[in-house]
Amino acid sequence: MTSPSPVRHFLRDDDLTPAEQSEVLDLAAALKADPYASKPLAGPQTVAIIFDKPTLRTQASFVAGIAELGGNPMVVDGTLAQIGTRESIADVARVLGRQASLIVWRTYDQSRIDEMAAHAGVPVVNALTDQFHPCQTLADLLTIREHKGATAGLTMTFLGDSACNMGHSYLISGALAGMHVRVSGPEGFGPDPALLARAQEIAAGTGGSAAFVADPKAAAEGADVLITDTWVSMGKESEAIDRAEVFRPWQLNEHAVALGAPGAIVLHCLPAYRGKEITAEVLDGPQSVIWDEAENRRHAQKAIMSYLLRPSSLSRRGE
Ligand code: CP
Repeated sequence: MTSPSPVRHFLRDDDLTPAEQSEVLDLAAALKADPYASKPLAGPQTVAIIFDKPTLRTQASFVAGIAELGGNPMVVDGTLAQIGTRESIADVARVLGRQASLIVWRTYDQSRIDEMAAHAGVPVVNALTDQFHPCQTLADLLTIREHKGATAGLTMTFLGDSACNMGHSYLISGALAGMHVRVSGPEGFGPDPALLARAQEIAAGTGGSAAFVADPKAAAEGADVLITDTWVSMGKESEAIDRAEVFRPWQLNEHAVALGAPGAIVLHCLPAYRGKEITAEVLDGPQSVIWDEAENRRHAQKAIMSYLLRPSSLSRRGE
């Protein structure tokens, strides 16, 4: 008897190989072109979407995308469920895995979603943890493909808190896509050395590169894609340091854009704070593709859910 294939999850960017990432992006483009063509959640099957942290885009895009795939989005309020406090993550996983065909979770430490995946018996998708935001970077790569025609060989620069989930996910996802990824932030706000090394290992096989560049001007120079994110990530609001003061040289403003390659595009995962990490002129300017990026969350997430739900990727309740 053949053993069931293991359940596939999307917990961090490198849960996809470079070839798989490209396949998922192709699928996202196809689903964007024909949004109602594919109904892998027909039934409707339920997808549980749990939020332990605030959201707008992630909730809206998953709910809309799941409906477009023929499914039933079940939003679970993490403040009511109190996962890991009211009951164990493993028990929540076992319960939700009996109600839903797939689980999407925005939570805190990566270890929490790893534990959910270990016990759910259905695919689990990371909708942001403290360490990674892989659905956002899939949407960003789709946006780069649309506006630049490809990803491989392009230089992508992230300015800001490079120790946060977005910095890490850009390093890993960009390396998978064969890009030259530069992340830049103040001293003490560099990426996890292990994740930078992982990105460099991936890049060695895809023709890309991955680096922490301390000087924001050097990081922006010649970049095809310029990106920033809020200087105060979720959970860091009560910090004592004045981040606005520390991060000012890393602002994505007209000077940074002028250093970029001709025709460089500007991304921001949102929510944005005009006048802080990005100026209004840049966010609302001609090189900004931020609203396409926000829309592409839906198409990219539909693609990764469809990919994980393929019969070859699924062994329901195989714990
Ligand atoms: N970019 C993003 O994840 O947005 P939300 O926090 O609003 O979901």
